[in-house]
Formats: sequence, structure tokens, C-alpha cells
Amino acid sequence: MTKIIDGKAISATIKAEVAAEVQQMIEAGKQAPGLAVVLVGENKASQVYVSMKKKACEKAGIYSREIQLPETVTMNELLTEVKKLNDDSQIHGILVQLPLPSHIDEQEVLNHIDPRKDVDGFHPINVGNLSLKIDGFVPCTPLGVMEMLKRSNIEIQGKNALVLGRSNIVGKPMAMLLTNAHATVTIAHSKTRDLAEQIGRADILVAAIGRPEFVKGEWIKEGAVVVDVGINSIDDPNSAKGYRLVGDVEYESAAAKAAHITPVPGGVGPMTIAMLLSNTLKAKKKYYNS
Ligand code: GUN
Repeated sequence: MTKIIDGKAISATIKAEVAAEVQQMIEAGKQAPGLAVVLVGENKASQVYVSMKKKACEKAGIYSREIQLPETVTMNELLTEVKKLNDDSQIHGILVQLPLPSHIDEQEVLNHIDPRKDVDGFHPINVGNLSLKIDGFVPCTPLGVMEMLKRSNIEIQGKNALVLGRSNIVGKPMAMLLTNAHATVTIAHSKTRDLAEQIGRADILVAAIGRPEFVKGEWIKEGAVVVDVGINSIDDPNSAKGYRLVGDVEYESAAAKAAHITPVPGGVGPMTIAMLLSNTLKAKKKYYNS
């Protein structure tokens, strides 16, 4: 029987754990953790994500602040905002929602976030910490995937893992986390040759390539663990909304082969926000515990 990994339920458990710890902190007379989310421009998807992040913070007792800046913001103005947040004693976590407009150098902005407040784990110091296995901040989506595997009692050590996708946000940190957990890791991407063959060797497959239903069930090894990070909207005239969300994996055919699989929606998606709350609490405890 294929086991469906319920990301929504695992995420709810983690959010409740964070909320309980925040409450204890407040009851002990300490300041609540605070998260600032910087949103530039009018990107609809980003607006939805930011509003979900804000709501989740409020529910967990985390102070949240949204900084909205126009699409036309200059690099200097944006860096000034980041520096103000670095110095703000109410704020322990800073998240600059990506993507940023094309005239802004994204990495340069991330480089200016205080690494102690870098709850997204995108600052080079934290990227380096992950590579060196030094405790720091790990990007929320791959951290969420690890947490799902752990809480589903899935063994990683010695397994062949294949990460499909090499982004800084998901693919690369995911591969590093699996390596640190003693898997034998392959990173594959759109230019990889013999992809079906590579996928066929994977005991653990993490798909983060951003292409709807790209991975076919017939490629997947019998009994594999399939983690689908993709969230793609495709036209569907049969749905009331006219569209539906699918992952990077063809779900039905993959579920027939896999021992464990994450659905879309309700799989990895909800884990990202849970890990953001967890990272914000960690920032407060690790660096600002007064
Ligand atoms: N855009 C898409 N995913 C993310 C994320 O995890 N963090 C930020 N800051 N922006 C994103």
C-alpha cells in the first residue's frame, strides 16, 4: 500500500509546537519573536504567499510586520529598509520575498540581511554553514522536506537520493541536507541525459524542476519515496476555478509505484510556512533570547 505523506497534518503539528513554545516565552516575560516580510511590487503569487505567512505568524503568537515597496524601488532604498530591519530590536527574522524586479540584484539584497536574522537561509554565511554542517539557518522548503521524512520514519542513510532541480532555494540545499544525512545524492536537471534511467535508481526522489507532471510513474523505482515540491497551475475546464494545481510528478502513475508519496496540494507546500515559523523562533532563541 502506498503511504500518502500528509504535509498539512505534519505542518499543523509543527505550527502547534512553535505556538506552544512562543506562549511559554511570553509567559516567562520575554519578548515574542518577530518576523518582517519585505514584499516588492504587485506579483500576485508573492502577495498570496506573504499574506499566508503573516496569518500563520499571528496564529502562532509571532509578531509580524509587512513592508510593501513599489516595483520601482531602487537598490539603495531596498538596502536601506533591510538595514533598518537588521537594527530593529522587535524583529528577529527577515524575509525578502522572491522574485525581485529585474533591475534589483537579488543576491546583493540577500547579502545585506544580518545572517542571524536570515530565516530563509539564503545569506552566503548560512549557505556555507549548511555545507560545513555548522548549525545555522536552512531554507524553509528543503528543511520542510527533511522534517516530513523524519516524522514519517523514512530512513535516509545509505539510500540513493535524486534531487531533480538545482535552484538555490530548493535543489542545492536539498542535496546538501540529504548528503549530510548520509544519502548518496545525485543532482539532476533539465540538461541531464538519461533522466528516466537516473530516476529509476532513486530510492528517494525529490522533484523540484517546476514543470507540471514532468516525472512519469513508469520512470520511478518500485517502492521509492517520492517528494513532489512542484506547485504548478494548469488549465482545467472541468474545475470550477478553470484551473487546478499539480506537482512536478504525474501523481496517479507515481503513486502506483511509490511506497511513500507527497500529494499536491497538501504535501510539501504547507511545510514551508511551518519551517519559517520554526526558523523565526530559532532566531529569537539562538541570538536574541532576552
Ligand atoms: N519565493 C519562492 N519561495 C520563496 C522562499 O522560500 N523564500 C522567499 N523569500 N521567497 C520565495
